[in-house]
Amino acid sequence: MERLQKVIANYGYASRREAEKLIASGQVKVNDVVVRELGTKVSSSDIIQINNVQIDKNIGYEYYLLYKPRGVISSSKDEKGRKTVVDLIDTESRIYPIGRLDYDTTGIILLTNDGNLANMLSLPKSNIDKTYIAKVDGILKKEDIIKLKNGVIIDGYKTKKAKIKVKKIDKKNKTSIVEVTIHEGKNHQVKKMFEAIGLKVLKLKREKYANLDLTGLKVGDYRPLLIKEVKKLYSLVNNKNSY
Ligand code: URA
Repeated sequence: MERLQKVIANYGYASRREAEKLIASGQVKVNDVVVRELGTKVSSSDIIQINNVQIDKNIGYEYYLLYKPRGVISSSKDEKGRKTVVDLIDTESRIYPIGRLDYDTTGIILLTNDGNLANMLSLPKSNIDKTYIAKVDGILKKEDIIKLKNGVIIDGYKTKKAKIKVKKIDKKNKTSIVEVTIHEGKNHQVKKMFEAIGLKVLKLKREKYANLDLTGLKVGDYRPLLIKEVKKLYSLVNNKNSY
């Protein structure tokens, strides 16, 4: 048994607070009876209606966190018939990725059918931190790091301040492993930032997206987001009518 407002929120119909308001104002029925008690517990067999419309599990929002493998396209369909990130998720819902990772980039990507959240997260002003680990062909010099941190010009645009940490240097093979945290999402941004200082990215993985990381997942695995994780994402994009 779950509290009514929690069930309404879990299915994505309203935030917990909105659900409480709906209940208190008499807009919610359980098994055809108006319920105004906030603590009311319901089971999966109870029929819940909001303004006489039955809650349908199948049209509730879904949110997934996928550990994207290489060789998969970050879109819902591919004209060339290549595998997409959506193909990796077992759902009947029409979900799509939030933002993109390149075909050869691995790591964290979110998918949902919640257009509102997807749009807000994709807005440049949303300032969502994304952390990448890049294997770079070359050894970074101090001035390279400073340039990357302060912003470099890519496609005529100066990138915003970034966090840059050199994690490892392989002097023999002349490669570096660099952690890059940015909150913009220009196309191929990380690769182009390194290109701007004359270095090629050999491998790229996104390890973190906002409050989320890949803990417990293997390449190709996915999991649904917890409601509290979705709420956190909403709070990060400052939406007052949030989940
Ligand atoms: N930056 C890139 O260059 N590629 C990605 O896939 C993501 C960020």
